[in-house]
Amino acid sequence: MSTFKAPKGTYDLTPPDSAKYLAVREAISAPLKNSGYGYIETPGFEDVALFSRGVGESTDIVSKEMYTLTTKGGSELALRPEGTASVLRAALEANLHKLGNLPVKLWYSGSYYRYERPQKGRYRHFSQVGAEAIGAEDPALDAELIILADQAYRTLGLQNFRILLNSLGDKECRPVYRDALQEFLRELDLDEDTRRRIDLNPLRVLDDKRPEVQKQLVGAPVLRDYLCDACKAYHEEVRDLLTAAGVVYEDDEKLVRGLDYYTRTTFEFVHDGLGSQSAVGGGGRYDGLSEMIGGPALPSVGWALGVDRTVLALEAEGIELELPSSTSVFAVPLGEEARRVLFAKVTELRRAGVAADFAFGGRGLKGAMKSANRSGARFTVVAGERDLAEGVVQLKDMESGEQQAVALDALVAEVQQKLA
Ligand code: HAM
Repeated sequence: MSTFKAPKGTYDLTPPDSAKYLAVREAISAPLKNSGYGYIETPGFEDVALFSRGVGESTDIVSKEMYTLTTKGGSELALRPEGTASVLRAALEANLHKLGNLPVKLWYSGSYYRYERPQKGRYRHFSQVGAEAIGAEDPALDAELIILADQAYRTLGLQNFRILLNSLGDKECRPVYRDALQEFLRELDLDEDTRRRIDLNPLRVLDDKRPEVQKQLVGAPVLRDYLCDACKAYHEEVRDLLTAAGVVYEDDEKLVRGLDYYTRTTFEFVHDGLGSQSAVGGGGRYDGLSEMIGGPALPSVGWALGVDRTVLALEAEGIELELPSSTSVFAVPLGEEARRVLFAKVTELRRAGVAADFAFGGRGLKGAMKSANRSGARFTVVAGERDLAEGVVQLKDMESGEQQAVALDALVAEVQQKLA
């Protein structure tokens, strides 16, 4: 223990558990890389205004949860609370939408920061893998993204997740619905805070978890009844494409996401083993975001999956990922001469592409064998003075327990052959 601890709401990823996080990131990104998405990386902080305009002043994320700072030069920055606004900003800045065909398809992986009340599954620093398809209005693109997320979760072995799907309408029909909803909500018996929300973001009131509020919401106008024909047809096609792909989803007309940029398709992946923080991922279409941050009209769609919660979901389902051991050969020298010779062999093995490690620190045989066991290596190579005098090392198969003398010169080839 040092004097310091990881800050509240954060935690460290340390071996062996950290390997799970890498595997989850890999499992989520693999289907994206395989579907035309290119990797993008943006800074960990941005101009505050990017988020207040993009994600929305009225959202919790912007109004309560951003880590903001003023630099010595006077710039107002925020640690990024999400990735979509940044990725779109970067794509516009690099003119990616002018370089080739649309959509521009991008994926990313990184750290995000929200000043939230920490609890299991809700952290102040967390990790997402996300995808954005920029500049095309095509229901097949919305479907593609949902199908790829479903595929990612399934390759991890997850089963107890559900896909919630909704349409939030567009700039034609949503304002009409918003008016109708506000009119309904203003008649209810609600506290000050909630009344303010009616003006700012009435759809979020529908999300209120309190039973006394929910009771009053019975009979509230539903967005589905207000969708314009174009939005209805669009949504129908997304649904049909998902069904054709064998992806099971639930229509959830109450699904309102916590970010303001959404239009039309919205969805969330929820896992039933996670308690209150059940959303393992979410996303949707954001046809107006580009214009909101000063760009041209670029209808787009995307999602972000939470890596931390995906790991929790794996644990909830008792899934042990098959993580191949990272070391194949562990070398244990007995004596000074063997140290030099085996260290050189380890270097040679590594250069030949074999994952190898070495008993450092000059401990005795017992301690070194413990390290060899813990490394998970398939083979150990042990050598003492007598072996070296004969020009051999002892190669032990840790699975079968078999041991054989192998000529020093033949070791690399022998190991490669056995591992193949
Ligand atoms: P979001 O729903 O705010 O969407 O976050 C996506 C996922 O990140 C959540 O479902 C959850 O798994 C994870 N997450 C969010 N906050 C936390 C937290 N405090 N602790 C742990 N995990 C968390 C977005 O961020 C949008 N940018 C998604 C998107 C991309 N929409 C369109 N494109």
